[in-house]
Amino acid sequence: MTASYQVHGDVAVITLDNPPVNGLGLATRQGIVAGLAQAQADAAVKAVVMTGAGKAFSGGADIKEFGTPKAIQEPNLLSVILAVENCSKPVVAAIHSVAMGGGLELSLGCHYRIAAPGTKIALPEVKLGLIPGAGGTQRLPRVVGVEAALNMIVSGEPVKSEMLAMLPGQKLFDKVAASTESLMDEALAYARGVADVRPLPLVRNLPAKHPQGDAYFQFARNMVRGMAKNFPAPLQCVDAVEAATKKKFADGMAYEREHFINLMWTSESRALRHLFVAERAASKIPDVPSDTPLRSIAKVAVIGAGTMGGGIAMNFLNAGIPVTILEMKQEAINHGVEVMSRNYEAQVKKGKLKQQKYEERMALLKTTLKYDDLKDADLIIEAVFEELGVKEAVFKQLDAVAKPGAILASNTSTLDVNKIAGFTQRPQDVVGLHFFSPANVMKLLEVVRGEKTAKDVLATVMQVAKKIRKTAVVAGVCDGFIGNRMIEQYGRQAGFLLDEGCTPSQVDKAIEKFGFAMGPFRMGDLAGNDIGWAIRKRRYVEKPGMKYSKTADLLCEKGRFGQKVGKGWYDYLPGKRDAIPNAEVEQMVAEHRKALGITPRKIGDEEIVQRLVFSLVNEAARILEEGIANKASDIDIVYIFGYGFPVYRGGPLNYANEVGLFNVVQAMQRFAQNPLDDAAFWQPAPLLARLAAEGRQF
Ligand code: NAI
Repeated sequence: MTASYQVHGDVAVITLDNPPVNGLGLATRQGIVAGLAQAQADAAVKAVVMTGAGKAFSGGADIKEFGTPKAIQEPNLLSVILAVENCSKPVVAAIHSVAMGGGLELSLGCHYRIAAPGTKIALPEVKLGLIPGAGGTQRLPRVVGVEAALNMIVSGEPVKSEMLAMLPGQKLFDKVAASTESLMDEALAYARGVADVRPLPLVRNLPAKHPQGDAYFQFARNMVRGMAKNFPAPLQCVDAVEAATKKKFADGMAYEREHFINLMWTSESRALRHLFVAERAASKIPDVPSDTPLRSIAKVAVIGAGTMGGGIAMNFLNAGIPVTILEMKQEAINHGVEVMSRNYEAQVKKGKLKQQKYEERMALLKTTLKYDDLKDADLIIEAVFEELGVKEAVFKQLDAVAKPGAILASNTSTLDVNKIAGFTQRPQDVVGLHFFSPANVMKLLEVVRGEKTAKDVLATVMQVAKKIRKTAVVAGVCDGFIGNRMIEQYGRQAGFLLDEGCTPSQVDKAIEKFGFAMGPFRMGDLAGNDIGWAIRKRRYVEKPGMKYSKTADLLCEKGRFGQKVGKGWYDYLPGKRDAIPNAEVEQMVAEHRKALGITPRKIGDEEIVQRLVFSLVNEAARILEEGIANKASDIDIVYIFGYGFPVYRGGPLNYANEVGLFNVVQAMQRFAQNPLDDAAFWQPAPLLARLAAEGRQF
C-alpha cells in the first residue's frame, strides 16, 4: 500500500505515501478507499484527515502508470473522489507543498480543506495537451470563481495557496494553517470541530456563475485561440469551464470526461506526454547508476570569451556559481565582458531582470590571462577556436594546472572528443559539453561521452546541467554528435529540393507551416552559411562520392554568409531579422539548375516536408543503431530543444512513429526512384527497415 492509515484519538489520518510526489497510482488509490472504509467502520472515529507524506500533498497522476492499464483500473480517480464525497464522516484535506492535477481534484472532493502557506496549487493537465479529467474543470470554478479557475486551467501554472486564500469569497480553503509544521495539528483540531456538522458540505453543491458569462467566455476564447496555436486543449478548457456554469454538475462532469478522453487520443497530447516522459528520461544514462557519487562543482572556468564562451559563463552566473574567464588578450576579455553586460542590461530594460540581480551576477565574474588562475576551478569549459591544434595547446595547459579531479570540458561542435581527451594525462576527466547558440538562451546541452569519460564525470555534468536549467542529452563521439549529424542530411536534402525546382522561401515556408520555428535556409542565414561551407569542403575530400547540391557553395562564393553580413539566402535590413527574398539568389539557383540540364518541377508542400523530415529520421535511426544516442526519445529532445522542431509533433522519431514506420519507408523508396534525388541517401537505415518490417516503432 502506498497510503497509510492511523488513528489519532477520534480522528483517522489517511496519508498518501508514494514518493516522490504521492502520485495517485493504483496502490495509493486502493489505500485511500481502504482507509475510508476503515474509518467509517470504526465507531470511535468521528472524522478523517487526508494528507501527503514527505514533499507533497499530491502531484497528481502517477507518471509511472502513464499509458498502462493500471492508470484507469478501479478504483480510478473519479471513483476515489466519489468515495471521499460519500464518506459518512467529514473528510478534511490537509494540503501542503504541492497539490496539483489529480491531487488538487482529490482535495476538491473532500468536505473541508486546510492549506499550509506556500503550497503550489495547479491543474497542469493542459501542459500535457489535456483538460483536467477528474472534476477539476467543474469543481475549481465553484470554489475560486470562474475567472480565476479558467486562468489556472488554461495556463496550467501553479498559484501559491496564500494568493488563492485572498480571493474574495473563495471556498477553496476553509483555513490557511500558520505553517507547514502546524498543519497537521490544526487539521486534527479542525476535524474535531466539524465532526458533528451535518449535512457534509460538498463542492459540487456550490454554484458556478459568472455575471457576464457569454461576454466573458467569448473574450476568453479570443485570448486563448491566439495562444493555443496548434493545440486543441486550451480552447477545450474554456468550453469545459463554461459547461460548469451552464450545465448541472453531473452533466458538466460527463462533458469534461468525454473531452478529456478525446484529447487523450489526439496526436498533440500524445506528443506532449511523450516529451514529458522523454525529458525526465534524458538525464538517466543506462550504465550510470542514479546513486553515482557526484563531484562538487562550486567554481567554474571558461576558456574563450567569444560568442559561446560569454553565453556559457552567463549560465553559471545566473545560477550563482562564480566563473573565471580566460582569454589570450585583454581586448578579447573586454569585448566578451561588454557583450555579456549588454545582454544583461537588455534584460533589465525589458523588466526581466532586477538591476541588483544583474550586479550580483557580474560580481561573480572574474577574468584572467593566466592559466595559473584556474587552479581551483572544479569545472573548466573550453570554447576557443574550432581548430584541433588550438584545442591541443589549451588542453595541455589545463592538464598542467587544473587540480586533480577537475572536470575538463570542450564545447567543440565537430572535433573528436577522444582526441581532445588524449591531449591530457587524465582522459577520464574530459567530456564534451556542446552548448547551442545563444548559449545563455538555448535549453539544449549535448553531453559528449568520450571513450574514457568516467561515470562520475557524466553523472556530475548531468546534475550541473539541471542547475543551470539545461536539458541535457548524452551523445557518443561522432562527427556532429546527434543534432548536427542529422541536420547535415536535412541540409543536403534541402539543396536537392532547390536543384529540382524549389525556391529557398518555398522550402522554408513549407516546413514552417509544418511547425518548425525556422526553415533550413533561414536557419543557415542565422547560423552563418560559411560554417556549412567549411564542413562541405571537408566532406568533398573525405567522401568524394557523396552527392551535394552546389547552390550553397555558389551562395558563399558571393559572400552571402547570412544575417551577420546582411545577406544570405535572403536579404536583411540593418538591425532586423526579417528574411526578404532576393531575386539574384533565386536567379542563381535557376541558372545552376539550367546548367545541370534540369527542367524545374513544381514540388508540393507535403513532399518538401516529408523529404526534409524523413532525412532526419533516417540519420537518427543510424545514430540509434550505432549507440551514439542511448534512446529514441533522447533524439526527440535534441530536436525539440535545440532545433525548433514543432513541439506538438513530439520530435522527429515520435512523428515517424505517428506516421507509421512502414509508411516512412514506403515514402523513402518512392524518393529513391527520383533520378534527381540520391538513391543512396534514401536507403533506409537497417534499424528503420527492420522496425518497419516488423510493424514496430522506435
Ligand atoms: P569565437 O570565435 O566567437 O570565440 C572564440 C574565442 O576564443 C575568441 O574570443 C578567442 O580570442 C578565444 N581564444 C582562441 N584561442 C584561445 C586560446 N588559446 N586561449 C584562450 N582563448 C582563446 O568562437 P565561438 O563561436 O564562440 O566558438 C567557440 C567554440 O564553440 C568552437 O569550438 C565552436 O565550434 C563551438 N561552438 C560554436 C557554436 C556557435 O554557434 N558559434 C555552437 C556550438 C559550439
